[in-house]
Amino acid sequence: MSDANALLEFEDVHQSYGEEKVLRGIDFEMERGDVEVVIGPSGSGKSTMLRCVNRLTEIDSGTIYLDGEPVTTPETDVNALRRRVGMVFQDFNLFAHRTALGNVTLGLREVLGHSKEEARAEAMSQLERVGLADQADSYPAELSGGQKQRVGIARALAMDPELMLFDEPTSALDPELIGEVLRVMRDLADDGMTMLCVTHEMGFAQEAASTISFLDEGTVVERGPPEQLFEDPEHERTGEFLERLTSLHGGQHG
Ligand SMILES: Nc1ncnc2c1ncn2[C@@H]1O[C@H](COP(=O)(O)OP(=O)(O)O)[C@@H](O)[C@H]1O
Ligand SMILES: [Mg+2]
Repeated sequence: MSDANALLEFEDVHQSYGEEKVLRGIDFEMERGDVEVVIGPSGSGKSTMLRCVNRLTEIDSGTIYLDGEPVTTPETDVNALRRRVGMVFQDFNLFAHRTALGNVTLGLREVLGHSKEEARAEAMSQLERVGLADQADSYPAELSGGQKQRVGIARALAMDPELMLFDEPTSALDPELIGEVLRVMRDLADDGMTMLCVTHEMGFAQEAASTISFLDEGTVVERGPPEQLFEDPEHERTGEFLERLTSLHGGQHG
């Protein structure tokens, strides 16, 4: 049964690529305004988990609910779903031949059917929100990685999503550019955006996350508020993973 208060809920979700089982029974829910951080080893299914939410990847069994409605049924309007769920990718996925403004207006024009003027005004306000109004006419090649990712965030925000998915948004960035992206994400969290973030930036997790989930081999091994996972993890695997993470990153970007 779906929980009436949950904005996003996974109920026994299984997914596989051919013979390879990736998600092995994910149960999970988050409420409106929650900031959920997902951590876990490479290959544990973090990206797959996110991609299943907006149907970039199809599940084998179980159900995913958005605001109480199942979104993994054949009847689901996938385009409508993707308008409600914004996604930010590790490698930005910007159109190289479009300016920052052009990247942000695209969905507004083609998906929401806004006029040129409306789309431009909305896109400018989103670029302003991520601190890039002055780069509106720059092409991706003229932007730093941090700026490109902020355009990616502005593009997702322009659709006015109910939920934002972040898949390792800072992993492709030079260390000195990570902070500017995390700052934008923290501002969003402060504004009350519901965010499901795969990230190993533990400074961000400690400051912004309501809950951290540790994913291993396609199941949520442990889930709890950051202080609990950091100070008193229930499972040995969680503790070991977090120890390795913090010795690698030290949370210096957050
Ligand atoms: N498109 C795909 N086709 C086949 N296998 C895939 C595909 N995407 C991911 N996988 C496999 O699924 C497993 C989980 O991948 P992924 O969800 O990307 O993990 P994570 O994001 O935690 O590193 C990995 O073993 C990966 O090789
Ligand atoms: Mg991944």
